[in-house]
Amino acid sequence: MPRYAYVNGRYVPFAGAAVHVEDRGLQLADGIYEVVSVSDGMPLDRDAHLDRLDRSLGELDITPPMSRSALEVVIGEIIRRERVRYGMVYIQVTRGVARRDHAFPVPERRPGLIVMARAIRPERQAAKAARGITVISVPETRWSRVDIKTTALTGNVLARQAAIEAGADEAWFVDGRGVVTEGASSNAWIVSRGGALITHPTDGRILGGITREIAIQLAESEGLRVEDQPFTIAEAQSASEAFITSAGNGIMPVVDIDHSTIGDGTPGPLVTMLRKRFDGRS
Ligand code: PDD
Repeated sequence: MPRYAYVNGRYVPFAGAAVHVEDRGLQLADGIYEVVSVSDGMPLDRDAHLDRLDRSLGELDITPPMSRSALEVVIGEIIRRERVRYGMVYIQVTRGVARRDHAFPVPERRPGLIVMARAIRPERQAAKAARGITVISVPETRWSRVDIKTTALTGNVLARQAAIEAGADEAWFVDGRGVVTEGASSNAWIVSRGGALITHPTDGRILGGITREIAIQLAESEGLRVEDQPFTIAEAQSASEAFITSAGNGIMPVVDIDHSTIGDGTPGPLVTMLRKRFDGRS
């Protein structure tokens, strides 16, 4: 368990860390978040995550709780206090505490800010990547602004739970067009038989993943073709490889989709190479 959390201006013992019952994040999911991976004690791709945090705040018209440089200090300090070498930082900003009403409070409240760090065991992630993960498909049930990283994650929560109950690791949303948008907490990818990497475009129907962007850059620097195109579950099941990308998983092979084995059921060569390149950056 972490030892500290940063909550609204103070580092407090984790066990007693709490927010007010009328925090709008708690009552209305009126807030946004970021998950930043920690590698060798450093927040990975921090600037890209903080750029996206600013964008999410802007889309919801929430005032940033502090300057970018102050937030960078808090992130560094929570990693240091928690002595995290490999793990995650969670950052959440809400519209603050106000009497419950759907409309924005007047006058504007001080935004709520939570920052936490948690260690992970890299060897567990490595073992998971060596096996590959399994995926089921679920209907896309989420609202139409999934491009904003809000804490309103009911659709994502139910999708992940459906995956767990089906004995799978992740759920891929399939929308009304019959195409895969993204995972419950990851972006979805396949490798075509021709060797092209295919992932849904950032057209508002997915979250623009930071790991997705880096995977595109890495793939292109290796001379691979990347197509941001939608794909179906049937196309995924006949693909030569599949994988997901997220701050939590990095680049993670998928070996089974809706009980259909991908390739020979083990992580494919391209995803294995890309994962190595991704992990080798820090
Ligand atoms: N999830 N799509 C969704 C719906 C996500 O929740 C995430 C990340 C991603 C990948 O984005 P990134 O590569 O920037 O992490 C795509 C985080 C890790 C989470 O909710 O825990």
